[in-house]
Amino acid sequence: VAPSLLPELAALIRDVADFPQPGVTFRDVTPLLANARGFVRCIDALAEPWLEQGVQAVCGIEARGFIFGAALAQKLGAGFVPLRKPGKLPPPVLSIDYQLEYGRDRLEARSDALKPGERVLLVDDVLATGGTLAAARALVDGFNATTVGACVVIELSALQGRLRWSGGEPLHALLRY
Ligand code: PRP
Repeated sequence: VAPSLLPELAALIRDVADFPQPGVTFRDVTPLLANARGFVRCIDALAEPWLEQGVQAVCGIEARGFIFGAALAQKLGAGFVPLRKPGKLPPPVLSIDYQLEYGRDRLEARSDALKPGERVLLVDDVLATGGTLAAARALVDGFNATTVGACVVIELSALQGRLRWSGGEPLHALLRY
């Protein structure tokens, strides 16, 4: 990624103090999405490391991972598979439960969404504690598909979510806070 691009993209992220709870700074990507040139450049930059990796399916995580993931899939000539929050997809689904800071959550995919050995790229907007991305990866493993790697727009480094990305495949983040 050209270093000059990163400040341009960072300038399109809106920081919202004390949302959704006191003490938390929310990184709002909607100004980036609304900026035609910024969105194109963001997708180009996300795609760059994967152009020659034979990605066959991009799995985007609900909800903002759908937006970046669908655009990225088109750029990479791959299909798009939504990994959804519980109860959104009709059966049959494959699902994975995972721990949140408070409580549990679940990701689901259509039970025939991926083929064994299919080369998968995982996409989300933000890497925080890493629980969601780790769960997405485990779900892909459940299909016996091959995780080529993952990418996020924003990594919240202080939360050390990267430590939960096991397996050694690349995890790329465009912007780090
Ligand atoms: C956010 C973000 C990631 C996840 C990262 O989603 O979009 O999916 O949290 O957190 P983690 O690394 O700590 O697991 P959110 O739960 O806000 O859901 P939404 O995209 O449906 O709003």
